[in-house]
Amino acid sequence: MNMLSILTPEEIERYEADGFLVLENFTNSERIAALKAAAQKIIDDFDMDTVSVFSTEDQRKLSSDLYFLESGDKIRCFFETHAFDNKGKLIKDKQLAINKLGHAMHDIDPVFEAFSYVPELCQAAIDLGFVDPIVAQSMYIFKQPNIGDKVNAHQDSIFLNTDPASCTGFWFALEDATQENGCLWAIPGSHKTYPVTRHFRRNATGKSTEFVGEETPWDLSQAVPLEVKAGTLVILHGACVHLSYENLSPKSRHAYAIHVVEGKDTTWRADNWLQRSEALPFRKMKEVSDSLPLFI
Ligand code: FE2
Repeated sequence: MNMLSILTPEEIERYEADGFLVLENFTNSERIAALKAAAQKIIDDFDMDTVSVFSTEDQRKLSSDLYFLESGDKIRCFFETHAFDNKGKLIKDKQLAINKLGHAMHDIDPVFEAFSYVPELCQAAIDLGFVDPIVAQSMYIFKQPNIGDKVNAHQDSIFLNTDPASCTGFWFALEDATQENGCLWAIPGSHKTYPVTRHFRRNATGKSTEFVGEETPWDLSQAVPLEVKAGTLVILHGACVHLSYENLSPKSRHAYAIHVVEGKDTTWRADNWLQRSEALPFRKMKEVSDSLPLFI
């Protein structure tokens, strides 16, 4: 691949100052429609007997959940907490009950693969300083109407660790994201203000997880809402403090996110919660981009 830069020097400067960058119209409505249809099909095909609840409100439940831990090289469905009544019975239609899909759609599903390895995205990563970017994980986030769970403030490098740190998020709005339906919020400059002092990792048993390190008291009053139109890409530095509130509105807020890490002279830590089997190793964006047909 030999592309011209995607990001302008001003955009790179803004990213370095703020720790995030909002790029409108990065993707088009045809690609968004293809991604939404692919997500819908995954849910249609989902076997309801293997139900798991994902909630950042309840990290303990999550950390003991093998269903989550084994999802690093699979496509799995995680439910909204409030999709169930207090007896644990599902009270929403399946399509309106899923919190997110994760975490290897980009290496398993051809539509997600084409979207995630599109050359301009690889080039954007290179423009930010990546030498050999790798897509470590993918998530389709539904933020369902009325019950979309909040995502507590965090830094992505807490959850995906490399030595040295390199995690960078690429978050695509597939629908308009507003304060009403739970848009992203981020603290400008937080990637410089707040070093990553905490890590989420597999514990010694390998079957559960734990946080190590001190929690940082982030000043969330400094967070600004990132209200964006469908098709916008938000790039997030791994140390940028960000969050989203619950969606109590009647509108969903679909988003697709991939997390990219450096493949050159960088180690994927063996205690990361997310691990790949030998059958599905991480792939280099440049190589996959070159091998795929052009996407829509
Ligand atoms: Fe995040």
